[in-house]
Amino acid sequence: MSRPKILYQCQGCGYSSPKWLGKCPDCGAWNSFVEETLTLRNAKLRKRETADPVALSDISHSTASRHSTEIKEFDRALGGGVVLGSVVLIGGDPGIGKSTLLLQALTGLTKLGKVLYVSGEESPEQIKIRADRLKVKSGNIILLPETSLEGITSIAQEIKPRAIVIDSIQTIFSLELPSAPGSVAQIRECATKLMFFAKKYNIPLFIIGHVTKEGAIAGPRVLEHIVDTVLYFEGDKGTPFRILRAVKNRFGPVNEIGVFEMTETGFKEVENPSQLFLSERPLNVHGSVVAASLEGTRPLMVEIQALVTTSNFGIPRRTALGVDYNRVNLLIAVLDKRIGMHLGSMDIFVNVVGGLKTEEPAVDMAIISAIASSFKNTAIDPGTFVFGEVGLSGELRAISQAEIRIKEAAKLGLKRGLVPAGNAGNAKVSDIEVIGIRNVEEALEILFF
Ligand SMILES: Nc1ncnc2c1ncn2[C@@H]1O[C@H](COP(=O)(O)OP(=O)(O)OP(=O)(O)O)[C@@H](O)[C@H]1O
Ligand SMILES: [Mg+2]
Ligand SMILES: [Zn+2]
Repeated sequence: MSRPKILYQCQGCGYSSPKWLGKCPDCGAWNSFVEETLTLRNAKLRKRETADPVALSDISHSTASRHSTEIKEFDRALGGGVVLGSVVLIGGDPGIGKSTLLLQALTGLTKLGKVLYVSGEESPEQIKIRADRLKVKSGNIILLPETSLEGITSIAQEIKPRAIVIDSIQTIFSLELPSAPGSVAQIRECATKLMFFAKKYNIPLFIIGHVTKEGAIAGPRVLEHIVDTVLYFEGDKGTPFRILRAVKNRFGPVNEIGVFEMTETGFKEVENPSQLFLSERPLNVHGSVVAASLEGTRPLMVEIQALVTTSNFGIPRRTALGVDYNRVNLLIAVLDKRIGMHLGSMDIFVNVVGGLKTEEPAVDMAIISAIASSFKNTAIDPGTFVFGEVGLSGELRAISQAEIRIKEAAKLGLKRGLVPAGNAGNAKVSDIEVIGIRNVEEALEILFF
């Protein structure tokens, strides 16, 4: 038996070092090293059954290996249903609704047979209360209040579930490791073992992970490498809307989103999110404009708001909610330099309504328009939408999928679109007046004639 070896491991990224370090050389986190005792497994233990090599052409796979969770928006985020044998990690802020959504999704999978809900955080009674509220009745859902990995896998071997949910990975620990639950070593070990289990029995495995203050899945980024699909559950707690976004998917497109509304009886799918995001839009107010953005393959009309006020402090405040802060600063600089709009002494707040987050460059033009509208105290016509990437010299650059954005706008009854000149030619949609724009100056002239 070899002596246990002591290692220090970064709880942020899993980097290990033989001595304690104040700053992680890999991910740059401070004070993130924790002592982990690693029992070195001897060679006999390590030896697994070896796999036989197979010719690619000899592998048969059935195309029907995807299954619907009966929640269309969830299927969509997964890339069209859940793949058997795949491991899906779901992260999100505390209380955002991870357990609720997975209980609902698991219910959809009971058509395959028994499914297992492993809860290390809540008692079966608590889950029952939730299930009653969600009107989940299936006798095929088996609850397991267990936190040891060995216990979970042995019970799973017995009842042979057709899908497993682990709620949450931070509470599960392996008896083979001395480190505390939630540490990098434990999370990595447990996730890997569970993954082997899912692949071996060809069942989908959903792992819930808590996120840290910084928004990453707590502990290990290594976890994101182990799993097939990573979904983030986002949303503003003040609103009932939640967005499930695929940030990694070995079986489908990334950035695909599913949109939900939280209700008393659980999550409802939102089939027309554009309508929802624009439903409470105040008309004819300063600093508001409709942007045609695209999330995954789905066009999404959102309201972008800006508020520009004289700053009371020496250094003006800049706040960006739902869009990139640096991007907003860049666009402010473009307005200042190219249009001569003096925003240097102004506090500027930019917000994407509905708690949506977007990194799409196509919303650049909307951010600029909203800021200009608030600065000029002039409302933008509510039937108008804008999109386009703005370059440093104020030029409007063409973006992808212009036509489906304009079609979405037509569906919502919008009348006029200011779009990059490069997109205007090949985007003819009836009922919409499409105006090709070459630069920011031209756009602002039309918006505030
Ligand atoms: N009776 C109710 N009606 C409507 N919404 C409710 C009701 N009870 C709970 N909720 C919502 O459910 C949310 C909690 O959902 P859930 O427990 O699934 O979240 P979670 O992400 O799993 O949280 P945690 O991180 O604590 O595990 C609450 O924030 C609340 O918004
Ligand atoms: Mg929970
Ligand atoms: Zn690190």
